[in-house]
Amino acid sequence: MPVAYEVPRIDVLSGAPSSIQADLLVVPLAEDHCAGTVAEFDAAVGGALGAALARGEFTPKALETFCAPILAAGWASSRMLFVSGGHREDMGPERFRRMAASAVALARHQRLPRVAWLDVEPGRMAAGERIDILGEAVTVANFDGGIHKSRPDPRFFLTDVSIVTAASGALDRAGAGRIVGDAVNSARVLINEPGNFLAPATFVDKAASLASVDGVGVEVFDERRLEALGTGLLLGVGRGSAEPPRMLIARYEPAGAAADVTLGLVGKGITFDTGGISIKPADGMERMKDDMAGAASVVAALRAIALLRLPIRAVAVVASAENMPGGRALKPGDILRGASGLTVEVNNTDAEGRLILGDALWYARTIGATHLVDVATLTGACIVALGKITTGLFGTPQIWVDTIRAAADRGGEKVWQMPLFEEYKDTLKSDMADLINSPGRTAGAITAAMFLQEFAGTGPWAHLDIAGTAWADETKAWMPRGATGAIIRTLVELGRGPFPR
Ligand code: BES
Ligand code: MN
Ligand code: ZN
Repeated sequence: MPVAYEVPRIDVLSGAPSSIQADLLVVPLAEDHCAGTVAEFDAAVGGALGAALARGEFTPKALETFCAPILAAGWASSRMLFVSGGHREDMGPERFRRMAASAVALARHQRLPRVAWLDVEPGRMAAGERIDILGEAVTVANFDGGIHKSRPDPRFFLTDVSIVTAASGALDRAGAGRIVGDAVNSARVLINEPGNFLAPATFVDKAASLASVDGVGVEVFDERRLEALGTGLLLGVGRGSAEPPRMLIARYEPAGAAADVTLGLVGKGITFDTGGISIKPADGMERMKDDMAGAASVVAALRAIALLRLPIRAVAVVASAENMPGGRALKPGDILRGASGLTVEVNNTDAEGRLILGDALWYARTIGATHLVDVATLTGACIVALGKITTGLFGTPQIWVDTIRAAADRGGEKVWQMPLFEEYKDTLKSDMADLINSPGRTAGAITAAMFLQEFAGTGPWAHLDIAGTAWADETKAWMPRGATGAIIRTLVELGRGPFPR
């Protein structure tokens, strides 16, 4: 089977651009500071850039590119690619990531294995963060799906990326970015895998090996262990499938970490969501193989946090099941009792994510997580509210939500806070049990979050609904169709602290 990605070698160099030997020199530029930066490079391509700009053949709008052969004497490379970032004040982490990804896509298309990024346009970023994002972006862009084709498309990966910069300390930061990019890619591979290759047991096995890096202890609970723990919500969702549910716990506890903070990362790991007895329509159901994206993301993030040796304690708790309408499946009206003791009337078996997360959140708290974040492809309603662009953010207290928003900003990912007003809570009432799992169509993303809140205990908790952002429906210059790896970067940034106490 062909591999889905390769992690390029990344070197950070300083030196004159003309002395750099690569198959492609990439020159980032800003639309509104174009003239100043590029004179030297325009001369290298014999004035082709200036001429293209004058003719309007190349307009330096965001993510536009222009490629030209190097004609001037004394240059060690033969081609130059100009990539515009648009206006300089818009050139933050997300923009740089897309610029780098677009450049890598072009190099791969032209089968140029060695690319050098000339770090001549800072945008609105500090050098260290910029180099970090570049290291991540070139790694994430060196990815291909389609690993199950018997006659695979000819695929081509970059082998070497040089970042040519005057910034000091940049080597470390590129390496850090590469670690995050590798983690993102490993999650994307799992998310893209179809349900027949990835049921709960195989999924947690693969997740366990991803998490098994220096300093991380991993445990997997099978159905008997879950029975003993009393996780009736997770077991209930798993009942309709021949593939039994699992829970995975990975703990990173570096020596010297503050004793009063344990970041708890909780993920929804539904390896396939048919809806169960409340079955989904056939149209588009195949996408539901990605319903474990939250779980893959928290494991990938923990891996990166450990590889980066961030000085915090962190645990990942993943609940995994296959939501199927088998002969023993949950039925609408069934009442389950979770490990926290709360009982739930299941009025819709398709609202399964909140059930398994109820047990996982409770367990994360039980084993000492002080600051919780859960990640889940939880609701279609979140896609209605925020589309495919933005991750829904919920939580309490506000300072914890703000901490997560700041981490997302640093990571260049879009999140938007949604409310958890008391008044929505009425909709969760059941006359048969403590809660119902599906309160109806209105405010569906909010009521799902409020259901989770019932299991999150009293400390800081936040919920990220990635139903819209986990999966790209169409290929873009910077991201192919399929799993995106959304929110992993944000979780790693979160791991850098600081934590509200
Ligand atoms: N996994 C789905 C949510 C989802 C839908 C993610 C579409 C990505 C794309 C979740 O388990 C689900 O089915 N949610 C229901 C909840 C409803 C029954 C209250 C939904 O959103 O329709
Ligand atoms: Mn569902
Ligand atoms: Zn689901």
